[in-house]
Amino acid sequence: MTKPADKAGANGAKGQSATRIELNQFFSAAEARVDRWRSLHRLTKALAASDASASERVRNDVKALVDELRPLEELNGYPGPQLMAQLDQQLEAADAQALARTVQRISASLLSNSYRDDAHAWSDDEDNESRMADAILPPTLGRGQSRRPYFEVLIVAAGERATWPELRETFRKLRRDDDAFVYEPVVVGSFEDAVLATLFNYNIQSVIAVEGFGFASKHASPVLREILSPHVPADAVDRGGDTSGSLARVLRMLRPELDFFVVTDTDVAKLAGAEDSSSIRRVFYGVEEPMEIHLAVLDAIKDRYETPYFDNLKKYAARPMGTFHALPVARGKSIFKSNWIRDMGEFYGTNLFLAESSATTGGLDSLLEPTGNIKVAQDKAARAYGGDRTFFVTNGTSTSNKIIHQALLTPGDIVLIDRDCHKSHHYGIVLAGAQPLYIDAYPLTQYSMYGSLAIKPIKQALLQLKAEGKLDRAKMLVLTNCTFDGHVANVERTMLECLAIKPDLIFLWDEAWFGYARFSPFLRGRTAMGAAAKLKAMFRDPAYQQRYEKQQAEIGAIDARDTRLVDLELLPDPKKARIRVYESDSVHKSMSALRQGSIIVVADQDFPKVEAAFKEAFFTHTSTSPNLQIIASLDLARRQVELEGYELVQRAIQLAIEVRREINNHPLISKYFRAATPAEMIPAEYRRSEFQDYGAPGWTIAKTAKALREDEFFLDPTRITLLCGNAGYDGSQFKGILASDYDIQINKTSRNSVLVQININNTRSDMAHLIKSLADLSRTIEKRLADGGDAEREAFAARVKSLVEDVPDLPNFSRFHDAFRDDPKSKTSEGHMRAAYYMAYDAASCEYIKLNDKKIDERLKNGPELVSAKFVIPYPPGFPIMVPGQVVTAETIAFMRKLDVKEIHGFNASKGLELLNPQALASHRGKASQR
Ligand SMILES: Cc1ncc(COP(=O)(O)O)c(C=O)c1O
Repeated sequence: MTKPADKAGANGAKGQSATRIELNQFFSAAEARVDRWRSLHRLTKALAASDASASERVRNDVKALVDELRPLEELNGYPGPQLMAQLDQQLEAADAQALARTVQRISASLLSNSYRDDAHAWSDDEDNESRMADAILPPTLGRGQSRRPYFEVLIVAAGERATWPELRETFRKLRRDDDAFVYEPVVVGSFEDAVLATLFNYNIQSVIAVEGFGFASKHASPVLREILSPHVPADAVDRGGDTSGSLARVLRMLRPELDFFVVTDTDVAKLAGAEDSSSIRRVFYGVEEPMEIHLAVLDAIKDRYETPYFDNLKKYAARPMGTFHALPVARGKSIFKSNWIRDMGEFYGTNLFLAESSATTGGLDSLLEPTGNIKVAQDKAARAYGGDRTFFVTNGTSTSNKIIHQALLTPGDIVLIDRDCHKSHHYGIVLAGAQPLYIDAYPLTQYSMYGSLAIKPIKQALLQLKAEGKLDRAKMLVLTNCTFDGHVANVERTMLECLAIKPDLIFLWDEAWFGYARFSPFLRGRTAMGAAAKLKAMFRDPAYQQRYEKQQAEIGAIDARDTRLVDLELLPDPKKARIRVYESDSVHKSMSALRQGSIIVVADQDFPKVEAAFKEAFFTHTSTSPNLQIIASLDLARRQVELEGYELVQRAIQLAIEVRREINNHPLISKYFRAATPAEMIPAEYRRSEFQDYGAPGWTIAKTAKALREDEFFLDPTRITLLCGNAGYDGSQFKGILASDYDIQINKTSRNSVLVQININNTRSDMAHLIKSLADLSRTIEKRLADGGDAEREAFAARVKSLVEDVPDLPNFSRFHDAFRDDPKSKTSEGHMRAAYYMAYDAASCEYIKLNDKKIDERLKNGPELVSAKFVIPYPPGFPIMVPGQVVTAETIAFMRKLDVKEIHGFNASKGLELLNPQALASHRGKASQR
């Protein structure tokens, strides 16, 4: 493990070192602060126990550490100035025992976050804790009240530092026992410190900017500027700091959920109406009652805290309801009184049954036609996830995808789609009767997986469609972002370039895995909604219009024969381009929703035109008995991410970076296992910045931010491809060993890897468990090789070679059989998949050939062509290697024969491959030609 002292993350805020801050240090800043307090605890304990000769040295170390912590603590509400002052006094008075006790209390409270609930943590007087706790802060417990959530309010003050204690006190005195939440003020005096506090202090939920604050941090240093540079626009610097509007813009760019208030004594109306005031929640006139500000702060938190559907469901459950409708489990009487299934009630608890109903009365609202609290909950979700509208879906993103396809596509439309997309898209296309134009992602043959779909082949397909006069039929582009294995697209650039060729193209970004990314300022720009918002702003910006015009002057109107276009970064006409973006998101995969909780987020300026069709599609796929608990959990997951998404996601990313580093730097583990780095997972041509790895030396925050902005692909750090081929395990085998011997569950495997996913639920203990398991396994392998002699070592080497080197080529999409093509000569590959799909319903049209039957090889050589009747989908990862109507090639067969997953949907090994027979194909072709 890295020693705390090595974690220079806090240096970022400490602002003393002139070295440049690296990405992993930035992410570990919060953890490094706690580590520093733990080090201080060790030192003060040693000081209390040391003799006079040693104590001077230790005292100096303690002082140095306190000095390091001081600037960081100014950005945090706890321990706060009073406890820090007490600590200074104890240090000054050389009262080592008292000092050790104070530091121990602070350190323990920070480690467990107990200061958010526990009065004891805030006391600066051990002998009279309750009195002092009252004086310092009324924490939520200890006064006989139920728990009240704790948060911190950042006050960006205009006055002298000497006035800050009074300011803090003013807000503390406003607390009332019937407040629903309790907060502690944190005061800073400058724009830069406000940005730092917003980045590093996870407790901050609201900002009160008092106009007249300065710009520069007193902790100014190259390190600090490096952190700030991507976030502080040049105009904010120019304007010298008295810029609450631009501060609001910058802070909400980092954390859009924050509530921002401004206090001014100049022209309130002018400020409230200013162009950049949209990020400001309320403007107060300086002399106004502070109580108004206090109430506005609490009210804004309440807005995020309230979960209209869940809150109502709780009320509903508490009512003495008599039910005369279906769903006997509602209220649970037949369960709790049962002779035989009472344990069902005992296991799940009463609330699950009390909160069940098949009716939409009692204020429960209807998912199919929401007008009440589901509607409000969806509107709040739209705000949280950054769309214009959000729809809750209770059957997983599989259903969200089908709804979107069915809503937006009509028979004959062409859909450009990454062939690796989740199967729900392919089924959605069959249902809609559209024609898929499959485009292949770049392969990562060495790991037996696909990467993602690059921009160039998409453009080539669009240009070819244009050349053949079919561009008007190209309706939608479907991409997965991020992919199962963590490939994150450059969403903004992809959309820009496509819109330059087809200005009204609709984008469906399957972000089943990526919903959490909205709550990271690093990743947000690479999400569908983050990029849609950027495009909106860009198209309004006169500077963009000029860029566009300049490019136009060089290339003229888009001409499909112009070979320069494929390599040029095309810009769309801002006056013609439509922003039509759909995101599907398995909230249950990366946030706190129950399984199958999914959402559709929409930023479509033409939505009113498709609203009726969308509703029909929603009705088609949504159960008339949606699960109330899933709806409630979607509401709650939204509350969580709006209040603590930033903290949870920052911590998850930090943990993921640590896991990667521990694996790859461990001398024993790294002999057999490896966390594949971004450089290994993303071909160099898509990493213009030459980004190698998150913790690589020299990779500063600024350089990483540039890579995130500009590279065609970026690897999500939380999705770790753990290579196990060098340990002699294939993915399935390794997954089995981890589950059976180490109680570690993972999901996806490939021939020589497993996918370790870190999410907001993981802790450092989970990391320790994984690392220890890998170390134990590595030791077992070492011992086996040492004890087994030459024969064992040779067998091991051969196994490793077969897993790591003898990997099968990945089969690209071949083509649809001519029977399913409007024009077999066309260079674009779209086809009538739906016709092939339904042809297979007739048993007389099908034939079966076993995978290892020689007939397959013969037909591949001499024909007639083998044509798949089915989707054949190995699971995981869940994308089709054959689709109905696709010509089966030798590559597909070779891949199938080497496939190492047990579950292959659409393939029954005992019957063999299900194919459309040549007679049926000939007859279909005949009919098609007569049409
Ligand atoms: C990219 C992608 N989209 C959609 C889905 C389906 O999501 P759900 O399981 O929520 O139905 C998955 C499931 O693994 C997926 O990987």
